Amino acid sequence: MARILSYLYPITKKIESDINGTLELTWHNGKKHLNSKNANYSYGSLQQILKFGLDKVDLTKVNSVLLLGLGGGSVIETLRKDFNHQKPITAVDIDPVIIEIAKEEFQLSTIENLHIVCQDALEFTKSTHKTFDLIIIDLFIDTQVPDQFLEIPFWKQVVALKTSSGVILFNASLEPNMGSKLTTVIHFLKSHVFKVAVYEKVNHTNTIILTSSL
Ligand SMILES: C[S@@+](CC[C@H](N)C(=O)[O-])C[C@H]1O[C@@H](n2cnc3c(N)ncnc32)[C@H](O)[C@@H]1O
Repeated sequence: MARILSYLYPITKKIESDINGTLELTWHNGKKHLNSKNANYSYGSLQQILKFGLDKVDLTKVNSVLLLGLGGGSVIETLRKDFNHQKPITAVDIDPVIIEIAKEEFQLSTIENLHIVCQDALEFTKSTHKTFDLIIIDLFIDTQVPDQFLEIPFWKQVVALKTSSGVILFNASLEPNMGSKLTTVIHFLKSHVFKVAVYEKVNHTNTIILTSSL
């Protein structure tokens, strides 16, 4: 019913999270979106931005995916439905409220080959012993990438978790200009993972960084 009514007017439900603040689930034109106070988190422009990056990845060579920042899981929908990619995905999010929303409102519990971990992403990268062919980094609190994810210790961990031919897709920023921290990260990646492509103003907003081996 909410889906049908949403063609007439948007329907919104607010959910409080200690970590992400007030979250909004909004039905609009038949589709459900997850938003924070000032940003789209899932199933809106964010989904298009990550799809732009995924389009440039040869997914036939990807046998394992690590997603840091589950949100509502829209990139998982993109992988499964738009790219018909059915390989195992490990998804990490620090916020149990977000994980509950992903499972209950976006049916992530029904997705096969998906392992969800409720943990800080930095801690996860330090503790896991697995490696991944594709690492998607989409870590935000509202409009901000938390500082530790723009610092080199985190990126050393990420590079160590990547298989030799693996790819990193980083949704870097909502800011109009790249900060100096992001420039440092790009320099670090260039010296460690061979090829780094930077796409600015994807969907008129975000910077996307894609690394690959030569
Ligand atoms: C934009 S949403 C992710 C959207 C998701 N990738 C999708 O495709 O729908 C950003 C997420 O990063 C998570 N996050 C922020 N800081 C984190 C941290 N330190 N560790 C793990 N997750 C974190 C937030 O809880 C939020 O769910």
